Amino acid sequence: MSLPEELQLALAKVDAPVEKLDQGWIFNCDNRLVFESLPDNSIDLIITDPPYKDYQSNRPVKHEKVKKILESDFDLPYFIEQSARVLKPGAHFYCWCDHLTFPGIVGEMKRQMEQQIEQIKQKDMRHYLTYKNMLVWVKNNHGSGDLKGNYAPQHELVIFGCKGDKGRKLNGKRQPNVYFKRDSTKSAVKFFSKVPNTVHTHGTSKPVIIQIEMIEKSTKRKNLVLDPYAGSMSTGMASKRIGRSFLLVEYDSGHYGNGIERLKGNSQRTIEE
Ligand SMILES: C[S@@+](CC[C@H](N)C(=O)[O-])C[C@H]1O[C@@H](n2cnc3c(N)ncnc32)[C@H](O)[C@@H]1O
Repeated sequence: MSLPEELQLALAKVDAPVEKLDQGWIFNCDNRLVFESLPDNSIDLIITDPPYKDYQSNRPVKHEKVKKILESDFDLPYFIEQSARVLKPGAHFYCWCDHLTFPGIVGEMKRQMEQQIEQIKQKDMRHYLTYKNMLVWVKNNHGSGDLKGNYAPQHELVIFGCKGDKGRKLNGKRQPNVYFKRDSTKSAVKFFSKVPNTVHTHGTSKPVIIQIEMIEKSTKRKNLVLDPYAGSMSTGMASKRIGRSFLLVEYDSGHYGNGIERLKGNSQRTIEE
């Protein structure tokens, strides 16, 4: 199972290192190079976690091998516009964020939607994202910060949206908008654990098990999942695990190399709960 031929031809124009695995391609470059080459309406799902300036860059990095995510030139309007353009009509969009970045991203989605509806009369020419919900992952432990004057941060947020007005239906049974697991008796609730910084030498690696839930709800087998800010490649790991294709982009060469080893199964821990 590989990428559709039309997409392979389009991506052949990207002038950057690329690893082509059976289930997907991974580029080592700025994702703008890949977005530029992707045709409209070509991606079945986006799951991603962009590097917001004052958020990821301030996270503590305790292990010398784990790189601090430096301030980036993250361009929010461009990211939203391109995500909307490349997604297929009705396809889903998941974007990790926190409470400080949430209003900015949702605000930008709404701004672009209103602008397109007003300016572009032809419905099939419009590419915009509709905000649908805020998903919450309550972690098993909390972060640091203002120890005495503020509540301990113990959750992360995901913006859930779709391309166009309504979006495709979610697969399977109806799920709550909070990620948790039940024990075997189904009575007690347990939380999904944070991935320690040192496991994939990445400061913001997301649990594969949560990414799998998102992909299962929003795609069919062999569909194509895009993560333009791939980091430790947890989106790729999740896609691979449940038989979806993936297209990943990561511009840091160290993370790119580690991620490829992880996807090939050469890392110590390849799949975590
Ligand atoms: C928050 S992390 C993603 C973590 C990922 N969700 C995981 O589970 O490991 C964001 C990643 O995007 C990468 N990045 C930042 N700007 C980029 C760009 N313009 N193009 C491609 N990658 C970029 C950073 O190097 C970083 O690894």
